[in-house]
Amino acid sequence: MQTISDCSVAAIQIAAKSLKDGHLVAFPTETVYGLGADATNEKAVSKIYSVKARPADHPLIVHISSWSQVEKWARDIPEYAKKLSDMYWPGPITLVLRRSHLAKDFVTGGQNTVGLRVPDQKIALMLAKEFEKIGGLGIAAPSANKFGAVSPTTAEAVVDEIGTALGKLDLILDDGQCKVGVESTIVDCTRNKPSILRPGAVTSEMIEETLNIKISQGAIDINIRVSGLLKSHYAPMAKVALDESAQPGDGLIALANIPTPVGVIRLASPINHEEYANVLFRALRLGDQKGLKKIVVLQPEGSGLALAIRDRLAKAASG
Ligand code: TXA
Ligand code: MG
Repeated sequence: MQTISDCSVAAIQIAAKSLKDGHLVAFPTETVYGLGADATNEKAVSKIYSVKARPADHPLIVHISSWSQVEKWARDIPEYAKKLSDMYWPGPITLVLRRSHLAKDFVTGGQNTVGLRVPDQKIALMLAKEFEKIGGLGIAAPSANKFGAVSPTTAEAVVDEIGTALGKLDLILDDGQCKVGVESTIVDCTRNKPSILRPGAVTSEMIEETLNIKISQGAIDINIRVSGLLKSHYAPMAKVALDESAQPGDGLIALANIPTPVGVIRLASPINHEEYANVLFRALRLGDQKGLKKIVVLQPEGSGLALAIRDRLAKAASG
């Protein structure tokens, strides 16, 4: 495994070639770091599952450079999906669509749908474009962490999570801290109305305004497998306790206006919800690095991004 910090065009071209050759490339996105493989190469994709120790029936998101790739991967695309992509791509939203013949079971976890996303990150977009230039069709990439663990938002965190599990010719592209910090919003676009399978930075309010309709939260079809929907997920080694008072020796994550009790180890003091999302996973990791047994998190209130933060925290706390 090699980490590339100078992400020049030449370096990205090498990374794209690595993908084409069946190797894994971890790369930054605006949400979290992804662990990428050629989405049409079964052997390469199977490496993702073994590196992450992830069950094989969990579908992967295919990362593409633009809408023009969507028709290759999906069929029966509703008009509202196009509207969402026009409005929010490149950006932190994944559209789940009916799959075409290209989206094989090894990417979709055997479901008849495929998750697609155009990431809003310079390196990720460049990688997708360079990959497509040499005949690639899409990059399958889950978050670059061990299954059930906290998603990495820096290249160092990727190394900590999966560095030793990667092969000699696999790559990690380093472009610093991810901008958003929590994973993309996942929208089921297989019905006459969209529904949100996982909340993220593109909020239900934003989607409702764009489409001028009311939408529902959560999978309508209980057979839809979203690993983020598993009860325990995003969990650090430390026990995560929500909205209780922190005792000496505990870690604390809370908005900046909340003071730190004596003897408590402050892990993050975000000033607003954007910053909260941005620092959350890093702060949970920091708690583990400090060897803390318990991290108390005072959750942000309200809708929008706060909902995505509470969603990840509820799962981290049941880990
Ligand atoms: O922000 C993100 O979405 C990041 C970056 C790397 O793009 N990726 C990410 O991937 O979070 P992952 O695999 O950790 O989570 C993706 C979620 C999983 O829970 C998976 O089950 C769900 O997306 N998913 C993927 N394809 C799906 C499909 N066809 N139907 C339902 N859920 C799907
Ligand atoms: Mg994940």
